[in-house]
Amino acid sequence: MAPDTVEPRLVVRGGQRLEGQVTVAGAKNSALKLMAASLLASGTCTLHNVPDIQDVHTMREVLEYLGAVVGFEQGTMTIDTTAVQSHVAPYDLVQRMRASIQIMGPLVARFGRARVAMPGGCNLGQRKIDIHLRGLAEMGGQVRSDHGFVEVTAEKLHAVDMFLDYPSVGATENLLMAGVMAEGTTTLENVAREPEIIDLCKFLVSMGADITGAGSSTIRINGVDKMHPTEHTVIGDRIEAGTFLIMGAVTGGDVEVNGISPHVLDLFLSKLRAVGVQVQENTRSIRAVGDPERHSAVDVATLPFPGFPTDLQAQMMVLLSVSKGVSVLTENVFENRFGFVDELVRLGADIRVDGNHAVINGGRALTGAIVRCTDLRAGAALVAAGLVAEGCTELRDVYHVDRGYERLEDKLRSLGADVERVTAPVSGVC
Ligand code: UD1
Repeated sequence: MAPDTVEPRLVVRGGQRLEGQVTVAGAKNSALKLMAASLLASGTCTLHNVPDIQDVHTMREVLEYLGAVVGFEQGTMTIDTTAVQSHVAPYDLVQRMRASIQIMGPLVARFGRARVAMPGGCNLGQRKIDIHLRGLAEMGGQVRSDHGFVEVTAEKLHAVDMFLDYPSVGATENLLMAGVMAEGTTTLENVAREPEIIDLCKFLVSMGADITGAGSSTIRINGVDKMHPTEHTVIGDRIEAGTFLIMGAVTGGDVEVNGISPHVLDLFLSKLRAVGVQVQENTRSIRAVGDPERHSAVDVATLPFPGFPTDLQAQMMVLLSVSKGVSVLTENVFENRFGFVDELVRLGADIRVDGNHAVINGGRALTGAIVRCTDLRAGAALVAAGLVAEGCTELRDVYHVDRGYERLEDKLRSLGADVERVTAPVSGVC
């Protein structure tokens, strides 16, 4: 690499108390699926409150590769699918972002064909797609795999009664999108209940779908002949909200996040309270006031919604690392989501991992160091650790963070953090 094109790094100088208000962007995990769902109708869908993050740009590339015309300005995205002709999602895009596989359901529903590169493993473990494929097969799709691709074809999908092996978010979404134009009434049981699923159902209903039960474990879909374009505003990002609340709490700060209903974070907020963080819930905002001297250990286990979100597990690990006492954090959703623990240990945390349990000997004083982001949420957690660590922390591989957080440094700076993005080839910034 040429010396003047150094990978960007985030440099965090710890010790500043965060204070103030911040507004969350639209939810990444909703926006990506709504973009995919726009493929179900010919014409132009308009989405508001779309986050300006790398994953959204990748999904835009996927849609453009298929032939859609996409505009994106100041949080509003227009997706014109009139000229969509291709049914292929190539390896490079799927490899960059696994959520690319969410085009499978809508493409089969509208065009009778989808060919998508197999996502393969990722930093969080094996991440299978068997439930997606079993559902599509039960709806009458022919599923084949060759040359690293999975291809699903169907003249016309038909309704199905299916009990999902696990309430997978992605499988629920793919099958919802496949089911909206299937012939007859589809019943999906043991589905995911995440707020982003509800948002997708609202979007599909406004496109003409007939869906009941969104947000419960059973969803019924009466197939319709045709879907039409629509306009929709993406819900706020609950994971971004939780991330800022933790970042504020670890610094003993006072942070209010706007643009989010507290009810989408119920269990997370009750765990913050159990640690000793003061939490105030308003209709569309949450305020958290931290007092590190009083923070103490609590056990946490991740589970599908409404359980504790796996996407806030890494950030919670940072809070527990600096809170007094021994906490046990259990990861039940992904098989390999403790990859960042070694990085946190480099900052001075005392954590022992045994299978899907992490035992955290809290109350440690962290000190800044060079660390590597191993995935999106791990990157956010390491920023939180840097905020409380003494001295300077330099984060490498920040492209992971850019996948899912909009203007993270700007927002943190507005709360009083000392954070900067460094691209100059300066060695030893810290
Ligand atoms: C989505 C979110 C991700 C979040 C996760 C769980 C997006 C873009 N990503 O990921 O941020 O962490 O939900 O809340 O929305 N599984 C199978 N077979 C399948 C499908 C899933 O075994 O066919 C397993 C996975 O390997 C994983 C678990 O189920 O261990 C959860 O996966 P899933 O709920 O599907 O998560 P994603 O949709 O990939």
